[in-house]
Amino acid sequence: MPKVAIIGAGLIGRAWAMVFARAGWDVVVWDGVEGVAAKAMELISQGLADLKRHELIDDPDAAAGRVRAAQSFEDAIAGAALVQENTPETLEMKREIFARLDAVAEPNTILASSTSSLVTSLYTENLKGRSRCLVAHPVNPPHLVPIVELCGAPWTSPEVMQSAREIYRSVGQVPIHVKREVDGFVLNRLQTALLAEAFRLVEEDIVTPQDLDETIRNGLGLRWSFMGPFETIELNAPGGIPDYCRRYSPFFRRLANDQPKASVWDEDKTNAVAAAWGPTPDPQKHAAKTRWRDEQLAALAAHKRKMKPFTE
Ligand SMILES: NC(=O)c1ccc[n+]([C@@H]2O[C@H](COP(=O)([O-])OP(=O)(O)OC[C@H]3O[C@@H](n4cnc5c(N)ncnc54)[C@H](O)[C@@H]3O)[C@@H](O)[C@H]2O)c1
Repeated sequence: MPKVAIIGAGLIGRAWAMVFARAGWDVVVWDGVEGVAAKAMELISQGLADLKRHELIDDPDAAAGRVRAAQSFEDAIAGAALVQENTPETLEMKREIFARLDAVAEPNTILASSTSSLVTSLYTENLKGRSRCLVAHPVNPPHLVPIVELCGAPWTSPEVMQSAREIYRSVGQVPIHVKREVDGFVLNRLQTALLAEAFRLVEEDIVTPQDLDETIRNGLGLRWSFMGPFETIELNAPGGIPDYCRRYSPFFRRLANDQPKASVWDEDKTNAVAAAWGPTPDPQKHAAKTRWRDEQLAALAAHKRKMKPFTE
C-alpha cells in the first residue's frame, strides 16, 4: 500500500490521517511538538470509529491499524508517495518545514501543503525539488468535507499536478484545479464575498444574525449542498444561464456598485456583529457543538452517497 506522511497532527493533520487510512494507505504522523503525534493516535481511532455509525467506513479498526506515530521526521518521510503538511499558518513555518521536507524526501515524493492562505511560490522558490511542491487546501474537517483545492506555483510540474489530482480522487476527495496562484484560492474568495455582505447586513441592522443564518440554512444552502451556483442559476430561467443573465444583469450590476467595503472588518463593527449574535460558547459547549456539527456532516455525507447524479 502507498504511504502518506502527515506533518503536523493538529485539527487538519488528524483528519487527513483518517482520509488516507480509510482509503487503505499506510499513514505515518509526525508533529514538531513532543508527544502530540502519539496523542493524536487515540483521536484518529475515535474519529474512524465515529464514521462507522454512518457507514462511511467498512473496518475502522483495520484503518486505525494502518496509522502510526513517526519515530522521527526522517522516519515519517521515508518511502512516502505524498507528504501532507499541516503545520501552523505562518510563512516562516512553511519556509522552514518545506526546506526540511525537500532535503529529506526522495525525489519522487510529492510535497503538498494544507495552507489556507499561503501560495506555494512564497516558500518553495529556492528549493531543489520545487517542481514537486503544491498547495492541497482542504476544508475542515477533510474526512467529512471532500473538496481539496490544488494550486501549484508557476514551477510546479504538470505531471505532479496530475498525480496529485489522481491521488486525492483515489482516496475519496474531490480535487479542483486552481489554475493560477491567487490570494484565498477559490473557496475562501467565495466565502469572503458572502461573509463581508453578511457582516454588513447585520452591522447596518438590516437583519439579525440569526435570521441571516436561516437564509442560508433554509434557503441558498439547501441547493448548494448538491449544486453549485452556476448549476443553480441555469435552472432559474427557462433559457439557462444566458437567459438568466439577460433578465437579471441590470439588478446584479446595480448591486455590484453597492458592495461592502474593507471597513466591514473594522474592530468596532465586527464587535457589534458578535454582540448581536450573542454570548461566545464556553470551551465545553464549543466542543459539544463541534461534535454535533461533525455528526450532521457525516449524516449528510452518507445521504449524498445515495443521491443520484442528473442523467439525460
Ligand atoms: N483549521 C481549519 O479550518 C483549516 C482548514 C483548511 C486548512 N487549514 C490549514 O491547515 C494547517 C494546519 O492548521 P490546523 O487548524 O490543523 O492547526 P493546529 O494548530 O490544529 O495544528 C498545527 C499542528 O502543528 C504543530 N506544530 C506546532 N509547531 C510546530 C513546528 N515547529 N513544527 C511542526 N509542527 C508544529 C502543532 O503541535 C499542531 O499539532 C494550516 O496551514 C492551516 O491554514 C486549516
